[in-house]
Amino acid sequence: MDTDTKSGISKEKPNLQSGGSHDREFDFTKADFDRVCQLIYEHAGISLGPSKQDMVYSRLARRLRANRLESFREYLAILESNNEVEWEAFVNSLTTNLTSFFREPHHFPILAEHVAKQKGRHCALWCSAASTGEEAYSMAMTMVDTFGTFTPPVSIIASDVDTQVLAKAELGIYPLESIEKLPEDKVKRFFLRGAGEKAGLVRVRKELRDMVIFRQINLLSDNWPIRPPLDAIFCRNVMIYFDKETQLKILERFVPLLQQDGLVFAGHSESYYQATHLFKLRGNTVYELEKSAQPAYTGELSNSGHRTHRGHHGHRRTR
Ligand SMILES: C[S@@+](CC[C@H](N)C(=O)[O-])C[C@H]1O[C@@H](n2cnc3c(N)ncnc32)[C@H](O)[C@@H]1O
Repeated sequence: MDTDTKSGISKEKPNLQSGGSHDREFDFTKADFDRVCQLIYEHAGISLGPSKQDMVYSRLARRLRANRLESFREYLAILESNNEVEWEAFVNSLTTNLTSFFREPHHFPILAEHVAKQKGRHCALWCSAASTGEEAYSMAMTMVDTFGTFTPPVSIIASDVDTQVLAKAELGIYPLESIEKLPEDKVKRFFLRGAGEKAGLVRVRKELRDMVIFRQINLLSDNWPIRPPLDAIFCRNVMIYFDKETQLKILERFVPLLQQDGLVFAGHSESYYQATHLFKLRGNTVYELEKSAQPAYTGELSNSGHRTHRGHHGHRRTR
């Protein structure tokens, strides 16, 4: 039987006729599913197609049990009443968090080269859909290898909308299998193996954990607590959950956050063809700013000696 890793339970096939099912634990009508889709789209930008009905049922059925509810209608009423705790659990339930260390390994030498090119200037990196942290720690390992120190001139902020995965990311504890493809020297330098009741687990060494700051950031929210200028944004395997309009809005907001030569790293199946006026493909799903796009920081000095900042509409401001 197929199992959904997030809910941990088998994917039952709910009957989605308009009247709901009579042989399932909970009725799940087409109207219930449509409302769930609308709410998660409005809040997190996630577009759930009809093929996700089974997944949604199995993940949210768990929330109904936790709240001792008898129907999706009651559950939706709790969400509509803006219950913050349930909203967090709702979003956490509907995200898909698949990730791994050095997933798409070709991105990391490109990141290393880009940062090394800045010749010791402090660099800032943002991992914007960090899930359980493997990607951000891969960025940190790459920085340690590039600069030969656990205190490189680089800051790494990693964020996600899902608070549950962020808690795991901060802990930095993973199953042993998650590092089995890593070279032995990386394993030795960056991980501690669990013993006794922790056997079968590894933990990212504290020196590496200390290099990454994790924060909850919803890419859809108006407020991103991210300080420009950034040298690279990893926005990998999250845009696929958004529609083109949402993707474009997010890409537009990346522009003023980036250094003029800043890079955006996308997932293997993501492309920014809707934003060719902003980003051009450098290769290997890595994007750089189009010449006409206005980044935040030109690197020029104003009369006062401060670096010049361009606002969203190209107006100049001084920090
Ligand atoms: C498939 S994982 C990708 C993880 C990692 N970037 C990688 O490529 O391995 C997608 C992540 O995007 C996050 N996500 C979904 N919607 C989001 C949003 N609106 N804002 C921020 N993160 C979001 C999910 O919680 C999930 O952890």
